[in-house]
Amino acid sequence: MLIKCDKCGKSFSFNDSLIKSSIMQIYCPYCNNKITINKEDSENGVPIAQIPKEQLDNIISKIDDLPTLPVVIQRILQLINDPKATVKQIGSIITSDQSLTAKTLKLVNSAFYGFQKKITTVDQAIVIIGFNAVKNLAISASVFDIFKNVSQRSSFDRSSFWTHCAAVAFIAKQICEDTRAGNSGEIFVSALLHDIGKIVLDVYFPELMNKILYNANYKQISFFQSEEEIAGFTHTEVGFLLSRRWNLPDNLYIPIRYHHTPQKTIKYPNIVSIVHTSNIIAKAGKIGYDGDSILPKISTYSWNILKQLKPDLSLETIKLYIGMAKQNLEESNFLEVAIS
Ligand SMILES: [Fe+2]
Ligand SMILES: [Fe+2]
Repeated sequence: MLIKCDKCGKSFSFNDSLIKSSIMQIYCPYCNNKITINKEDSENGVPIAQIPKEQLDNIISKIDDLPTLPVVIQRILQLINDPKATVKQIGSIITSDQSLTAKTLKLVNSAFYGFQKKITTVDQAIVIIGFNAVKNLAISASVFDIFKNVSQRSSFDRSSFWTHCAAVAFIAKQICEDTRAGNSGEIFVSALLHDIGKIVLDVYFPELMNKILYNANYKQISFFQSEEEIAGFTHTEVGFLLSRRWNLPDNLYIPIRYHHTPQKTIKYPNIVSIVHTSNIIAKAGKIGYDGDSILPKISTYSWNILKQLKPDLSLETIKLYIGMAKQNLEESNFLEVAIS
Protein backbone atom coordinates (compact mmCIF):
# COMPACT_ATOMS: atom_id res chain seq x y z
CA MET A 1 0.00 0.00 0.00
CA LEU A 2 1.32 3.44 -0.91
CA ILE A 3 0.96 5.99 1.89
CA LYS A 4 1.24 9.72 1.34
CA CYS A 5 2.08 11.78 4.43
CA ASP A 6 -0.35 14.64 4.95
CA LYS A 7 2.34 16.75 6.63
CA CYS A 8 5.50 16.43 4.51
CA GLY A 9 3.78 15.21 1.34
CA LYS A 10 6.27 12.36 0.82
CA SER A 11 5.04 8.90 -0.16
CA PHE A 12 6.25 5.58 1.18
CA SER A 13 5.15 1.98 0.86
CA PHE A 14 3.64 0.05 3.73
CA ASN A 15 3.20 -3.70 3.84
CA ASP A 16 -0.55 -4.48 3.77
CA SER A 17 -0.07 -7.64 5.80
CA LEU A 18 0.97 -5.49 8.77
CA ILE A 19 -2.46 -3.83 8.95
CA LYS A 20 -4.23 -5.39 11.92
CA SER A 21 -7.52 -3.52 11.83
CA SER A 22 -9.35 -1.26 9.42
CA ILE A 23 -8.07 1.76 11.36
CA MET A 24 -4.52 1.92 12.68
CA GLN A 25 -1.84 4.52 13.30
CA ILE A 26 1.66 4.51 11.86
CA TYR A 27 4.47 7.11 11.68
CA CYS A 28 5.86 8.79 8.58
CA PRO A 29 9.48 7.61 8.13
CA TYR A 30 10.46 11.06 6.83
CA CYS A 31 8.91 13.49 9.33
CA ASN A 32 7.56 11.23 12.09
CA ASN A 33 4.02 12.57 11.57
CA LYS A 34 1.37 10.28 13.07
CA ILE A 35 -0.77 8.93 10.21
CA THR A 36 -4.09 7.17 10.67
CA ILE A 37 -4.63 4.46 8.10
CA ASN A 38 -8.27 3.86 7.48
CA LYS A 39 -8.25 0.85 5.20
CA GLU A 40 -11.86 1.27 4.15
CA ASP A 41 -11.52 5.00 3.57
CA SER A 42 -8.53 4.89 1.30
CA GLU A 43 -8.13 5.64 -2.33
CA ASN A 44 -5.66 3.29 -4.04
CA GLY A 45 -4.22 2.59 -0.64
CA VAL A 46 -3.57 6.26 0.11
CA PRO A 47 -5.32 7.30 3.33
CA ILE A 48 -7.41 10.37 2.79
CA ALA A 49 -8.93 11.11 6.19
CA GLN A 50 -6.70 11.70 9.17
CA ILE A 51 -8.81 12.26 12.23
CA PRO A 52 -7.82 11.07 15.73
CA LYS A 53 -9.58 7.80 16.53
CA GLU A 54 -11.85 9.08 19.36
CA GLN A 55 -13.11 12.02 17.29
CA LEU A 56 -13.42 9.82 14.23
CA ASP A 57 -15.72 7.39 16.07
CA ASN A 58 -17.83 10.29 17.35
CA ILE A 59 -18.18 11.84 13.88
CA ILE A 60 -18.96 8.51 12.24
CA SER A 61 -21.69 7.78 14.78
CA LYS A 62 -23.28 11.20 14.09
CA ILE A 63 -23.01 10.68 10.34
CA ASP A 64 -24.68 7.30 10.82
CA ASP A 65 -27.68 9.20 12.25
CA LEU A 66 -28.20 11.02 8.95
CA PRO A 67 -30.63 9.40 6.52
CA THR A 68 -28.94 7.37 3.80
CA LEU A 69 -29.39 8.33 0.17
CA PRO A 70 -32.59 6.98 -1.45
CA VAL A 71 -32.57 3.33 -2.54
CA VAL A 72 -32.67 4.44 -6.18
CA ILE A 73 -29.42 6.38 -5.82
CA GLN A 74 -27.80 3.49 -3.99
CA ARG A 75 -28.78 1.14 -6.81
CA ILE A 76 -27.31 3.52 -9.38
CA LEU A 77 -24.07 3.80 -7.43
CA GLN A 78 -23.82 0.00 -7.24
CA LEU A 79 -24.50 -0.38 -10.96
CA ILE A 80 -21.85 2.17 -11.94
CA ASN A 81 -19.19 -0.36 -10.98
CA ASP A 82 -20.88 -3.10 -12.98
CA PRO A 83 -19.24 -3.24 -16.43
CA LYS A 84 -22.32 -4.97 -17.86
CA ALA A 85 -24.72 -2.19 -16.81
CA THR A 86 -25.97 0.00 -19.63
CA VAL A 87 -26.76 3.71 -19.56
CA LYS A 88 -30.34 2.87 -20.51
CA GLN A 89 -30.65 0.53 -17.55
CA ILE A 90 -29.34 3.14 -15.14
CA GLY A 91 -31.55 5.86 -16.70
CA SER A 92 -34.59 3.69 -16.14
CA ILE A 93 -33.68 3.34 -12.46
CA ILE A 94 -33.79 7.14 -12.08
CA THR A 95 -37.17 7.29 -13.82
CA SER A 96 -38.54 4.61 -11.48
CA ASP A 97 -38.53 7.28 -8.76
CA GLN A 98 -40.99 9.97 -9.80
CA SER A 99 -40.04 12.68 -7.35
CA LEU A 100 -36.33 12.20 -8.03
CA THR A 101 -36.95 12.36 -11.77
CA ALA A 102 -38.99 15.54 -11.38
CA LYS A 103 -36.36 17.27 -9.29
CA THR A 104 -33.48 16.14 -11.50
CA LEU A 105 -35.26 17.46 -14.58
CA LYS A 106 -36.02 20.74 -12.81
CA LEU A 107 -32.30 21.11 -12.08
CA VAL A 108 -31.38 20.29 -15.67
CA ASN A 109 -33.91 22.85 -16.89
CA SER A 110 -32.98 25.56 -14.42
CA ALA A 111 -31.47 28.35 -16.41
CA PHE A 112 -27.84 27.53 -15.72
CA TYR A 113 -27.66 25.05 -18.58
CA GLY A 114 -29.32 27.65 -20.76
CA PHE A 115 -31.46 25.33 -22.90
CA GLN A 116 -33.97 27.07 -25.12
CA LYS A 117 -36.33 24.12 -25.05
CA LYS A 118 -37.49 22.31 -21.97
CA ILE A 119 -35.96 18.87 -21.40
CA THR A 120 -38.81 16.62 -20.43
CA THR A 121 -37.33 13.15 -20.03
CA VAL A 122 -34.31 11.63 -18.32
CA ASP A 123 -33.34 9.96 -21.62
CA GLN A 124 -33.22 13.37 -23.34
CA ALA A 125 -31.17 14.80 -20.48
CA ILE A 126 -28.71 11.91 -20.74
CA VAL A 127 -28.19 12.58 -24.44
CA ILE A 128 -27.75 16.33 -23.94
CA ILE A 129 -25.68 16.73 -20.78
CA GLY A 130 -24.35 13.19 -20.50
CA PHE A 131 -25.23 10.34 -18.22
CA ASN A 132 -22.67 11.20 -15.54
CA ALA A 133 -23.95 14.75 -15.18
CA VAL A 134 -27.55 13.52 -14.89
CA LYS A 135 -26.53 10.91 -12.35
CA ASN A 136 -24.65 13.51 -10.31
CA LEU A 137 -27.54 15.99 -10.46
CA ALA A 138 -29.79 13.21 -9.15
CA ILE A 139 -27.30 12.65 -6.33
CA SER A 140 -27.23 16.42 -5.52
CA ALA A 141 -31.02 16.55 -5.55
CA SER A 142 -31.03 13.78 -2.93
CA VAL A 143 -28.29 15.41 -0.84
CA PHE A 144 -30.16 18.75 -0.84
CA ASP A 145 -33.33 16.93 0.16
CA ILE A 146 -31.65 15.36 3.16
CA PHE A 147 -30.13 18.61 4.37
CA LYS A 148 -33.06 20.91 3.73
CA ASN A 149 -34.93 19.11 6.53
CA VAL A 150 -32.12 19.61 9.04
CA SER A 151 -32.26 23.15 10.35
CA GLN A 152 -29.38 25.45 11.16
CA ARG A 153 -28.07 25.00 14.71
CA SER A 154 -24.96 27.15 15.01
CA SER A 155 -24.66 30.79 13.94
CA PHE A 156 -23.59 29.62 10.48
CA ASP A 157 -26.10 31.13 8.04
CA ARG A 158 -27.45 28.34 5.84
CA SER A 159 -28.92 30.44 3.08
CA SER A 160 -25.70 32.42 2.48
CA PHE A 161 -23.88 29.10 2.60
CA TRP A 162 -25.95 27.61 -0.23
CA THR A 163 -25.41 30.83 -2.20
CA HIS A 164 -21.65 30.34 -1.78
CA CYS A 165 -21.88 26.69 -2.90
CA ALA A 166 -23.94 27.57 -5.98
CA ALA A 167 -21.51 30.39 -6.90
CA VAL A 168 -18.54 28.01 -6.63
CA ALA A 169 -20.44 25.55 -8.84
CA PHE A 170 -21.20 28.20 -11.51
CA ILE A 171 -17.58 29.38 -11.55
CA ALA A 172 -16.16 25.83 -11.62
CA LYS A 173 -18.43 24.91 -14.50
CA GLN A 174 -17.30 27.97 -16.46
CA ILE A 175 -13.59 27.41 -15.77
CA CYS A 176 -14.01 23.79 -16.79
CA GLU A 177 -15.62 24.82 -20.08
CA ASP A 178 -12.88 27.42 -20.71
CA THR A 179 -10.05 25.02 -19.92
CA ARG A 180 -11.69 21.87 -21.31
CA ALA A 181 -10.42 20.11 -18.20
CA GLY A 182 -13.27 17.64 -17.91
CA ASN A 183 -17.03 17.24 -17.90
CA SER A 184 -18.40 20.61 -16.76
CA GLY A 185 -21.71 19.10 -15.63
CA GLU A 186 -19.84 16.78 -13.31
CA ILE A 187 -17.52 19.47 -11.96
CA PHE A 188 -20.60 21.61 -11.29
CA VAL A 189 -21.89 18.97 -8.87
CA SER A 190 -18.59 18.34 -7.11
CA ALA A 191 -18.23 22.11 -6.61
CA LEU A 192 -21.79 22.35 -5.34
CA LEU A 193 -21.07 19.75 -2.66
CA HIS A 194 -17.49 20.81 -1.82
CA ASP A 195 -18.31 22.18 1.66
CA ILE A 196 -20.94 19.61 2.64
CA GLY A 197 -18.91 18.72 5.75
CA LYS A 198 -19.75 22.17 7.19
CA ILE A 199 -23.41 21.24 7.37
CA VAL A 200 -22.53 18.14 9.39
CA LEU A 201 -20.50 20.35 11.75
CA ASP A 202 -23.38 22.83 12.02
CA VAL A 203 -25.98 20.14 12.70
CA TYR A 204 -24.10 17.77 14.98
CA PHE A 205 -21.34 19.91 16.45
CA PRO A 206 -22.96 23.37 16.72
CA GLU A 207 -20.90 24.49 19.73
CA LEU A 208 -17.68 23.45 18.04
CA MET A 209 -18.83 25.21 14.86
CA ASN A 210 -19.50 28.43 16.80
CA LYS A 211 -16.04 28.25 18.38
CA ILE A 212 -14.42 27.69 14.96
CA LEU A 213 -16.31 30.65 13.48
CA TYR A 214 -15.49 32.89 16.46
CA ASN A 215 -11.81 31.92 16.46
CA ALA A 216 -11.50 32.49 12.70
CA ASN A 217 -13.06 35.91 13.00
CA TYR A 218 -11.20 36.91 16.17
CA LYS A 219 -7.78 35.88 14.87
CA GLN A 220 -8.53 36.81 11.26
CA ILE A 221 -7.51 33.37 10.03
CA SER A 222 -9.23 31.10 7.52
CA PHE A 223 -12.11 28.86 8.61
CA PHE A 224 -9.98 25.86 7.57
CA GLN A 225 -7.05 26.98 9.76
CA SER A 226 -9.43 27.68 12.63
CA GLU A 227 -10.87 24.15 12.33
CA GLU A 228 -7.36 22.72 12.57
CA GLU A 229 -6.66 24.83 15.67
CA ILE A 230 -9.97 24.28 17.47
CA ALA A 231 -11.14 20.83 16.34
CA GLY A 232 -7.99 19.10 15.05
CA PHE A 233 -9.90 18.05 11.95
CA THR A 234 -11.66 19.87 9.13
CA HIS A 235 -14.90 19.92 7.14
CA THR A 236 -12.99 18.34 4.24
CA GLU A 237 -12.48 15.16 6.24
CA VAL A 238 -16.01 15.19 7.62
CA GLY A 239 -17.39 15.71 4.10
CA PHE A 240 -15.21 12.89 2.87
CA LEU A 241 -16.48 10.52 5.57
CA LEU A 242 -20.05 11.44 4.71
CA SER A 243 -19.36 10.86 1.01
CA ARG A 244 -17.92 7.44 1.78
CA ARG A 245 -20.89 6.56 3.95
CA TRP A 246 -23.11 7.46 1.03
CA ASN A 247 -20.87 5.65 -1.48
CA LEU A 248 -20.53 8.75 -3.63
CA PRO A 249 -18.21 8.35 -6.64
CA ASP A 250 -14.60 9.47 -6.29
CA ASN A 251 -14.92 12.40 -8.70
CA LEU A 252 -17.26 13.90 -6.07
CA TYR A 253 -15.46 12.98 -2.88
CA ILE A 254 -11.89 13.75 -4.00
CA PRO A 255 -12.64 17.51 -4.51
CA ILE A 256 -14.62 17.49 -1.22
CA ARG A 257 -11.53 16.09 0.53
CA TYR A 258 -8.83 18.16 -1.16
CA HIS A 259 -10.32 21.54 -2.11
CA HIS A 260 -8.21 23.29 0.55
CA THR A 261 -5.07 21.21 -0.03
CA PRO A 262 -5.08 20.59 -3.79
CA GLN A 263 -1.37 19.78 -3.88
CA LYS A 264 -2.05 16.68 -1.79
CA THR A 265 -4.34 14.90 -4.18
CA ILE A 266 -3.00 12.16 -6.38
CA LYS A 267 -6.23 11.81 -8.33
CA TYR A 268 -8.14 14.38 -10.40
CA PRO A 269 -5.63 17.25 -9.94
CA ASN A 270 -7.45 19.32 -12.59
CA ILE A 271 -10.92 18.99 -11.04
CA VAL A 272 -9.57 19.57 -7.53
CA SER A 273 -7.66 22.66 -8.70
CA ILE A 274 -10.73 24.05 -10.43
CA VAL A 275 -12.91 23.57 -7.33
CA HIS A 276 -10.17 25.02 -5.10
CA THR A 277 -9.75 28.12 -7.28
CA SER A 278 -13.50 28.61 -7.82
CA ASN A 279 -14.03 28.47 -4.07
CA ILE A 280 -11.59 31.34 -3.55
CA ILE A 281 -12.94 33.32 -6.52
CA ALA A 282 -16.48 33.11 -5.03
CA LYS A 283 -15.09 34.40 -1.72
CA ALA A 284 -13.18 37.18 -3.52
CA GLY A 285 -16.46 38.24 -5.13
CA LYS A 286 -18.13 38.15 -1.70
CA ILE A 287 -20.87 35.90 -3.06
CA GLY A 288 -22.57 34.13 -0.16
CA TYR A 289 -20.66 33.13 2.95
CA ASP A 290 -18.85 29.92 3.88
CA GLY A 291 -17.40 30.92 7.23
CA ASP A 292 -14.31 32.78 6.04
CA SER A 293 -13.77 36.34 7.16
CA ILE A 294 -10.46 36.58 5.32
CA LEU A 295 -9.62 35.77 1.73
CA PRO A 296 -7.34 32.71 1.47
CA LYS A 297 -4.70 32.67 -1.29
CA ILE A 298 -5.09 30.53 -4.39
CA SER A 299 -2.58 27.67 -4.19
CA THR A 300 0.37 28.13 -6.55
CA TYR A 301 0.06 24.45 -7.45
CA SER A 302 -3.53 24.89 -8.67
CA TRP A 303 -2.89 28.24 -10.32
CA ASN A 304 -0.04 26.70 -12.35
CA ILE A 305 -2.29 23.83 -13.43
CA LEU A 306 -5.00 26.26 -14.54
CA LYS A 307 -2.49 28.53 -16.29
CA GLN A 308 -1.26 25.54 -18.29
CA LEU A 309 -4.81 24.74 -19.32
CA LYS A 310 -5.76 28.36 -19.95
CA PRO A 311 -2.68 30.57 -20.45
CA ASP A 312 -4.70 33.83 -20.61
CA LEU A 313 -6.08 33.35 -17.10
CA SER A 314 -5.66 36.65 -15.24
CA LEU A 315 -7.19 39.00 -12.69
CA GLU A 316 -9.47 40.26 -15.45
CA THR A 317 -10.74 36.73 -16.17
CA ILE A 318 -11.39 36.25 -12.46
CA LYS A 319 -13.50 39.43 -12.41
CA LEU A 320 -15.48 38.06 -15.36
CA TYR A 321 -16.08 34.79 -13.49
CA ILE A 322 -17.36 36.73 -10.47
CA GLY A 323 -19.71 38.78 -12.65
CA MET A 324 -20.97 35.66 -14.41
CA ALA A 325 -21.65 33.86 -11.11
CA LYS A 326 -23.56 36.88 -9.74
CA GLN A 327 -25.60 37.09 -12.90
CA ASN A 328 -26.34 33.35 -12.86
CA LEU A 329 -27.48 33.57 -9.25
CA GLU A 330 -29.79 36.44 -10.10
CA GLU A 331 -31.20 35.01 -13.28
CA SER A 332 -31.11 31.26 -12.73
CA ASN A 333 -33.55 29.53 -10.44
CA PHE A 334 -31.07 26.76 -9.77
CA LEU A 335 -30.65 27.50 -6.06
CA GLU A 336 -34.39 27.88 -5.48
CA VAL A 337 -35.04 24.57 -7.23
CA ALA A 338 -32.23 22.81 -5.38
CA ILE A 339 -33.29 23.87 -1.89
CA SER A 340 -37.04 23.91 -2.43
FE1 LIG B 1 -14.17 24.34 2.14
FE1 LIG C 1 -16.28 26.86 0.17
